[in-house]
Amino acid sequence: MLGLKVHKKGAETAKRYLVKNALLDNQLIVFGSNSFIYLPIKGEISPKKKQGVEKATGGKLVSSKFEKSGVKGKYRELLQKRLGKSYDDVTKSYDIVGNIALIDAKGRPATQMAKAIMQTNKNVLTVISKGGAVSGKYRVRKYAHILGKKNFIADYRENGIELKFDIRKTFFSSRLAFERLRIAKLVRPKENVVVMFAGMGPFAIEIGKMQRQANVVGIELNKDACRYMKQNIALNKTGNVVAELGNVKRVADKYKGFADRIVMPLPKTAFEFLGAVLKVAKRKCIVHYYAFGDRETGFEDEIKKVRNFFEKKGRKVKILDKRVVRQYSAKEVEIVLDILVG
Ligand SMILES: C[S@@+](CC[C@H](N)C(=O)[O-])C[C@H]1O[C@@H](n2cnc3c(N)ncnc32)[C@H](O)[C@@H]1O
Repeated sequence: MLGLKVHKKGAETAKRYLVKNALLDNQLIVFGSNSFIYLPIKGEISPKKKQGVEKATGGKLVSSKFEKSGVKGKYRELLQKRLGKSYDDVTKSYDIVGNIALIDAKGRPATQMAKAIMQTNKNVLTVISKGGAVSGKYRVRKYAHILGKKNFIADYRENGIELKFDIRKTFFSSRLAFERLRIAKLVRPKENVVVMFAGMGPFAIEIGKMQRQANVVGIELNKDACRYMKQNIALNKTGNVVAELGNVKRVADKYKGFADRIVMPLPKTAFEFLGAVLKVAKRKCIVHYYAFGDRETGFEDEIKKVRNFFEKKGRKVKILDKRVVRQYSAKEVEIVLDILVG
């Protein structure tokens, strides 16, 4: 989807311009990062019109992901009514992981937000607040209970699979759902797939469920996450998926020359594991490599790094695809490179 990225200071003027020219998509939710606001654009827009919009608003038209209003729209309305202030002044949106809603409560009216969420989302039984950023080698974060049943076990459905896990003990992001589906659709029958950094199993199980004839191995360092991956394999009856507990660098020895495809969803440090990729990969292998980077220069930087690494090892590299997976922070996006290593 196309969005107008505009500096916060100019956002109101830009919004008025879009409304006046019938270009603002009211069915989608405006979102913001530290310094920028992203306004959803309605329909297709010609290159000439694009130039006009950018000139008039001082913004930039970029491809963006917007959430649909609907339930979230009602939540905003309810909050606005209760708090009597502008939604953007006091609150932020929320994420839903099955029966649990996650909010960022710092400096915000947490209980009011939680009440509004539970009133507008009948499936949400618990609201918890994120306590800081994802951190550490297990990529987990702390959570505090705000409202509803005191429960941290999420029961979540995505792309035809069900996942149960303790949200405090394993990484999870529902914002990667589209990417997981994209990868699962690429897998062909009888492929051997290694999902490094598998967490509690979303990539591995989705692939195993969609492609019953594939053999999938999920490798995970965090004991709790790996235990949940095993339970989720059983829950989804994906007998073609194996969960391996351990460090990718060590488990790689067990799967030398095994993989037609390797998924590397550890954007922070995936580069450090390219040695393990070389061990696990067949002579020809597709690698889905994730990284954080600048929206403008991230692809170029990572492609250079990865190409250098493989070529130094005498391997050929072809970039099959590249895409932005999600906005990660004000400055960074998560990107993925689909690489054919030959
Ligand atoms: C960003 S999470 C991704 C989890 C999962 N693939 C998902 O999409 O929900 C990265 C995972 O890699 C695991 N991890 C980190 N270093 C590892 C290593 N050296 N070997 C195996 N797993 C590792 C972490 O424990 C964490 O669960």
